[in-house]
Order: sequence, then structure tokens, then C-alpha cells
Amino acid sequence: MALLNILCYPDPRLNTVAKPVKEITNHTLTLIESMIETMYESNGIGLAATQVDVHERIIVLDVSDERDSPMVLINPEIIWTHSERVKGEEGCLSVPNTYDGVERAIEIKVKALDKSGSTQEIHAKELLAVCIQHEMDHLIGKVFVDYLSPLKRNRIKTKLLKLQREENH
Ligand code: NI
Repeated sequence: MALLNILCYPDPRLNTVAKPVKEITNHTLTLIESMIETMYESNGIGLAATQVDVHERIIVLDVSDERDSPMVLINPEIIWTHSERVKGEEGCLSVPNTYDGVERAIEIKVKALDKSGSTQEIHAKELLAVCIQHEMDHLIGKVFVDYLSPLKRNRIKTKLLKLQREENH
């Protein structure tokens, strides 16, 4: 296990579309463990492989208060979406110190493989539903700020580029 480096918006690698996992190897399992460790270390509730510059369809999540229930979704697919949508405040480990409202389906059903390669079906509501939708967006190269107005997005871009320049000096 190792802590992984998280790409920071507007890094163009965050726009990469991830490929399905063909086979769950030891390498995949090590990556998953490192992703979970990185998510906890960064106090995040979700992390997509895209964010650590691995372009495979893998996400890890933990929305529990105790932070002791990590979930792993490999090749996730949304198989049902509630028609009702609600706007909630979102943030992202790739977009530090930035929060804004994004509209998401309030409830979804997702099919994915678990670590052992078995198919699991998850009926997600509330925070978990939002988190899965957010992380699955990363796998298609989408970051939550892409839903905001161009004006807001540019402001965020400028702010983060300035921050990254300062950090590199
Ligand atoms: Ni994110």
C-alpha cells in the first residue's frame, strides 16, 4: 500500500475516459488498497482511479460516519435512475477548497464487480447516491465543476492554477 498522488483540477489528465477492468489482478488489488488509504488520508468520501492517474473503471467510497466501511466498485454501471433530482453542495479531492451546488438523481441502482470479481447490485440513496454519481463522472473524464457556469468554472480554474504555482515555488 502507498499513498497516491491526487491530480488537481484543471489537470487535463482528469478528462481521460477510463477503460473497463478486464481482469482483477494482484496489481488491481494493490491499487484498490492504496486508493482506499489515500481517500482516508485525504478525508474524502470517494475516490476514482482517474484522480490518481490510473485510467481504469474503479472507484472506492466510504460515506459511513465511522469511516470503517470502504466500498469498491469495479466497472460500475447505473442500471436505474430515480427521476427526481436534487441540488446539493459538492466538493472533490481534485478541486481543493471548492464547494458548489450540483443537481443529481436522488436514488440510483448500480451494478458493479467487487474485489473478488462477483457482481454486486447496490441500491443507493442520499449521500451514497450522490457520491457514486460524482465518482462515476470522474471515470468519463468529468469533474463536478463542469456542471457549473463557465464564469464560475474559470474563476475556480484561475484560483487553483495560482495555488499550484505558489506551491511549486
Ligand atoms: Ni471528485
